[in-house]
Amino acid sequence: MNASRWDRLLLDATLATFRGDRPYGLIEDGAIALQDGRIAWVGRRDELPGAPDALAAQVQSLDGALVTPGLVDCHTHLVFGGDRAHEFDLRLNGASYEEIARAGGGIVSTVAATRAAGEEALFRQSLPRARALLADGVTTLEIKSGYGLEPETERRMLRVARRLGETLGLDVRSTFLGLHALPVEYRDDRDGYVALVCDQMLPALAAEGLVDAVDAFCEGIGFTRAETRRVFDRARQLGLPVKLHAEQLSDLDGAALVAEYRGLSADHLEHLSASGIAAMAAAGTVAVLLPGAFYALRETRLPPVDALRAHGVPIAVATDCNPGTSPLLSLRLAAGMACTLFRLTPEEALRGVTVNAARALGLDDRGALAPGLRADLAVWHLRQPAELCYWIGGHGLLRELVIEGRSMAATA
Ligand code: NIG
Ligand code: FE
Repeated sequence: MNASRWDRLLLDATLATFRGDRPYGLIEDGAIALQDGRIAWVGRRDELPGAPDALAAQVQSLDGALVTPGLVDCHTHLVFGGDRAHEFDLRLNGASYEEIARAGGGIVSTVAATRAAGEEALFRQSLPRARALLADGVTTLEIKSGYGLEPETERRMLRVARRLGETLGLDVRSTFLGLHALPVEYRDDRDGYVALVCDQMLPALAAEGLVDAVDAFCEGIGFTRAETRRVFDRARQLGLPVKLHAEQLSDLDGAALVAEYRGLSADHLEHLSASGIAAMAAAGTVAVLLPGAFYALRETRLPPVDALRAHGVPIAVATDCNPGTSPLLSLRLAAGMACTLFRLTPEEALRGVTVNAARALGLDDRGALAPGLRADLAVWHLRQPAELCYWIGGHGLLRELVIEGRSMAATA
């Protein structure tokens, strides 16, 4: 053939495409072709339009290995200074997350450590966390700000997030979370802080191209609906999509609020109400479930999975990687926990870390295996998709990661 032949053709693959009607969109004895960073062809090997060697410059047999879309972690706070291991101890001794937060621990203690860290230190501390996620199959990673709560540190966090992506060859999407906690210096001036976020920080950071989406923590220990609305209005003016930490510890009807703004996602949702679900369904807002936080906080109230299913709300699953409530460094384990703790099926959990996670970031060019999508693939030392949820721990399961057609890691 000529110059138009494919760059690479993988044969004898078990393909979990997440397209079509079959469970997992599974294609046994599959073939997948990559060209110029995109998927060029997907199907059964015996349907290939010619002899493999004539079709592609490089042909490789995978001996039946499982291939999935690269995983998408759509909710993390992985750039931060310090750690909060001591709070783990306090919680095991009976203190609640809210009590620790109200006593000056929690988010604001990570804020102090993050403000104190220079860009290099922040980068160096965050890099192993991003590497750990990548080593377990992640090719697109969302990272939130929100441990700076003043312009310089918020900027530094977002810059470090971008730099992690460039360094590791990952696609990082950065989310501005200025309304994460009230910084101590604004203790007596909530309104002043919300104004700083809406009128200065967000427009400036957006103008620098550092913001892909806007998030807030709508909660008793976070921000009210009215305050959340202010930052959403500003995001809308700037043409930025919104998402929300909603109904994690109580029901402030945040899901309906973010749905009103046609938000990408409402995240956590243990206390989600029936009306919140209906609003999300109508708006197409994704429900992002975060079993790591549920587990680490030893929560008992489950997100309303049956009702989300019944209303056809797309469900995603993410690590929520953060130092306080979810020090979780494996998206595959998050998917497994979504099965054991929240009773998702393995197929739902895996759709939740691929196609629905991409949707929660507003991305329709990934999360599945289909012609024209980005060539983001994970090749596993496994045969069946459910095994991705079934094995607990064990990083060496990833055989190769391909991001936009480039092979990133071969741990075989
Ligand atoms: O998603 N809930 C608010 N934000 C994080 C926790 C951040 C922290 O405790 O440092 C979450 O759980
Ligand atoms: Fe979070």
